[in-house]
Amino acid sequence: MFKKLALSAVTALALTTSGAFAAGGGEQHIEDIQFSFEGPFGKFDQNQLQRGLKVFTEVCAACHGLKFVPFRTLSDEGGPGFTEDQVRAYAANFDVYDAELEDTRPAKPSDNFPANTGAGAPDLSLMAKARAGFHGPYGTGISQLFNGIGGPEYIASLLTGYTGHEKEEAGVTLYENTAFPGGWISMAPPLSGEDVEFDDGHSNSLHHEAEDVAAFLMWTAEPKMMARQHAGFVGVLFLTILSVLLYLTNKRIWAPVKKKAKEA
Ligand code: HEC
Repeated sequence: MFKKLALSAVTALALTTSGAFAAGGGEQHIEDIQFSFEGPFGKFDQNQLQRGLKVFTEVCAACHGLKFVPFRTLSDEGGPGFTEDQVRAYAANFDVYDAELEDTRPAKPSDNFPANTGAGAPDLSLMAKARAGFHGPYGTGISQLFNGIGGPEYIASLLTGYTGHEKEEAGVTLYENTAFPGGWISMAPPLSGEDVEFDDGHSNSLHHEAEDVAAFLMWTAEPKMMARQHAGFVGVLFLTILSVLLYLTNKRIWAPVKKKAKEA
């Protein structure tokens, strides 16, 4: 009986970890990337988040907003780890509209990143979760637990998936991209490698920049991931200990009765 159960559990696990590639449909090519934050004990890499923020600031912010992300979270634990002074200095680079002043002013840590709709580009705050699907959201969730939800993989693959072919359709230039559903996206290739200089001397090749900004966007979409995983782990540990104690208590309570039953 136990053997049978164990076998089906293993099969289910294998199925859920390898399957779900088809999610999203089409002939998308998404690369699997081992991000530091994947797995039950994964953690955001603070340096990577700082590099990703830099890519976002210097490249993506020209067209994309992050309107759900408050600047002050840049100093939260588990995030890019800015000091409060750094957050203040960073926020001041952005102009936000103040309804009271009826004018724009430099942003403060309590403001959110500005929205940016000028170029018709979607907001990126939650994009890493909106485009989950490469490893999930199907199945039992085991795959997502070990491999992550797939959103950052999609973003990194999108940024590196340009083939160099373009076409014009109804006056819009479309760029062929192997990760984008349908294969043609209206975003011109934003990265080509060596777009930014990283302070920590990390490689700024196209792939590294893409991974770093994808990791940063996972953080913006789920900044409390580490705390949540930690709470989940403590919960499971607690339940395990509780189960063992209950089992032992149960045995002890019924021992005299069982003994009597045997003697009878
Ligand atoms: C020149 C403007 C511009 C820049 C710079 C830019 N984007 Fe975009 N981006 C767009 C537009 C426009 C779209 C909408 C494309 C479409 O739906 O065809 C888009 C779409 C996206 C999408 C959504 C794709 C989807 O699945 O719908 C992601 C993710 C994205 N951009 C990430 C980035 C990242 C990361 C950067 C910085 C490295 C960046 N973009 C830089 C204009 C830009």
